[in-house]
Amino acid sequence: MDKQLQINAQHGLHGQLSVPGDKSISHRAIMIGSLATGETHVHHFLTSADCLATLQAFKNLGVQIDRQGDEVVVHGVGMHGLKRPEHALQMANSGTTTRLMMGLLAGQAFESRLIGDDSLSKRPMRRVADPLAEMGASIETTEGHLPAVVHGQTLKAADIQLKVASAQVKSALIFAGLQAPGHTVIHELLPTRDHSENMLKAFGADLTVSSDKMTITVGQTDQLNAQTVQVPGDMSSAAFFMVAATFLKGSDITLTNVGLNPSRRGLLDVLVQMGGHVEVNETVSAGEAVGDIRVQSADLHPIALTAEQIPAIIDELPLVALLAAKADGISTIHGAEELRVKETDRIACVERELGKLGANVKALPDGFVIDGRTPWQVNDTVLDSHGDHRIGMMLGLAALLVDQPLTLHRADAVGVSYPEFFDDLNTLLEA
Ligand code: S3P
Repeated sequence: MDKQLQINAQHGLHGQLSVPGDKSISHRAIMIGSLATGETHVHHFLTSADCLATLQAFKNLGVQIDRQGDEVVVHGVGMHGLKRPEHALQMANSGTTTRLMMGLLAGQAFESRLIGDDSLSKRPMRRVADPLAEMGASIETTEGHLPAVVHGQTLKAADIQLKVASAQVKSALIFAGLQAPGHTVIHELLPTRDHSENMLKAFGADLTVSSDKMTITVGQTDQLNAQTVQVPGDMSSAAFFMVAATFLKGSDITLTNVGLNPSRRGLLDVLVQMGGHVEVNETVSAGEAVGDIRVQSADLHPIALTAEQIPAIIDELPLVALLAAKADGISTIHGAEELRVKETDRIACVERELGKLGANVKALPDGFVIDGRTPWQVNDTVLDSHGDHRIGMMLGLAALLVDQPLTLHRADAVGVSYPEFFDDLNTLLEA
């Protein structure tokens, strides 16, 4: 689907918005709720394509899941109650669904086949299959990719050093560890988002995290107890409006009830470092920090990001590139080579698409060098999401900074994480 993009937003963004539920937490609520005993009630579930793929996959594994809008009830079947699926499980575009389920299914007493769309079928899966193999798992990939067959079997506890900083890989190992007799110890390369750990602890799993967050110990867990999960607004969705309000003069917005988990809030620090005007009003709800974020427009200064800062801002890096392309100097982003294996090669896509608008963005193997002082000059009016939700939404914001009609090719990709994105953007533009 092609979309005409709104351009030249003279008055900035105004008003208040509650963004849809957190994608990472919504996936986990379905998965952990399915393995639990009893009814898990999920409020503010993210009804995007990715999370609906997870929901459907668990229905196909025999779990009764009732959904009305963003209210979901998962009738948990217990640790050993999943049923062999009759057909291949469709992972669609979702790396999180795929990788977490590989760990979860590796310890079940049946075989499952996982398939996905073209983008997902190009993404690396050995990063999950290999460490799971150390626990005795048997996952047959197609040369390291989907389709994959998970031959579920009895697992053994192990001591595993992760080779990539990835919450998806870590979570797969945690799900496997829950099913392996003994204690599995997982050592992270850098601390990554810890929603699996937080939620599993709340459901009663035998799981501990070291004080430096680098080591997770998970014991075999026979029973998880159903809970009520209040999903906070997704920081990675709020991020789009935080960025647009910063660079559009005259803006003043408040995003309500946003998840502020420390492993996800890197953009807040980056905005402040770049000169942004951000106020956070924080509380704790069900073990996760949440709060309202007020953002007003500001002049932007360049930034230098390095590897240790990347995990807490990984999904927001295309937006940081956009901010940097309007800052008054040269910004650098290093240590972000993981961007090359997301839904697209996000380093190449950002360089190419912002380049069409004349932004001075140079790709590096592991990030970018961006000179925000170069004036933009549109040289191609047809932008492309490349089928990547976050690239599509970032380009929807970039268009607000130019004065020529622009078209976004494959705009429907935004439905992967934020189907109402353009509507919500218009609401804030029109307020
Ligand atoms: C996610 C982890 C991150 C992130 C993705 C969601 C998760 O991926 O980019 O959008 O929910 O665990 P990696 O673990 O591959 O870095």
